Amino acid sequence: MNYKLVPMDKSHLSQVEAIERACFSHPWSAALLEQELYNDMISLVVAEGEDGTVLGYGEVRAILDEGTLEKIAVAPQFRRQGVAEEILKSYLRLGQAHLAFLTLEVRESNAPAIALYEKLGFREVGRRKNYYREEHEDALLMTVEFERHD
Ligand SMILES: CC(C)(COP(=O)(O)OP(=O)(O)OC[C@H]1O[C@@H](n2cnc3c(N)ncnc32)[C@H](O)[C@@H]1OP(=O)(O)O)[C@@H](O)C(=O)NCCC(=O)NCCS
Repeated sequence: MNYKLVPMDKSHLSQVEAIERACFSHPWSAALLEQELYNDMISLVVAEGEDGTVLGYGEVRAILDEGTLEKIAVAPQFRRQGVAEEILKSYLRLGQAHLAFLTLEVRESNAPAIALYEKLGFREVGRRKNYYREEHEDALLMTVEFERHD
């Protein structure tokens, strides 16, 4: 499967919104995603196939040297082919260069995502009890720290 990682732009929004709806119970709208495009603290990356198909995408918010992975998702038909791993590795390279750590919250039942994060070096550092109230589910906090160069 040939694809490249590119910065998200307006041309990707309708496809990203469709993947949001396929992946999440509380999907982000195209309007919300569009606002994020113009936020300097946010890095949005898309895995784009040769024909322009969006396979998956990710979002990192960076405040000073603290990064949060806000989102990572791959369209169901393109999963288990390393797309999320490539997106996350690109954020780890960004983190290595610019951040002290990259952190995230994940549902404790989300085994695929937790396996992905563990594979790439994230470790569980805490838990938010009943964070997902509707489902009475805890969030795990996972973090990877970067070597400081200063
Ligand atoms: C989690 C998600 C992003 C993974 O995307 P993906 O492109 O299929 O993942 P990759 O193919 O890059 O997998 C990389 C590693 O993650 C782990 N992994 C991914 N999917 C997995 C699954 N279904 N079961 C177990 N491990 C899994 C494996 O360790 C895998 O490495 P391997 O292939 O060498 O075993 C995808 O399942 C998804 O979009 N889920 C819905 C959205 C979501 O929950 N996002 C995270 C919360 S914001």
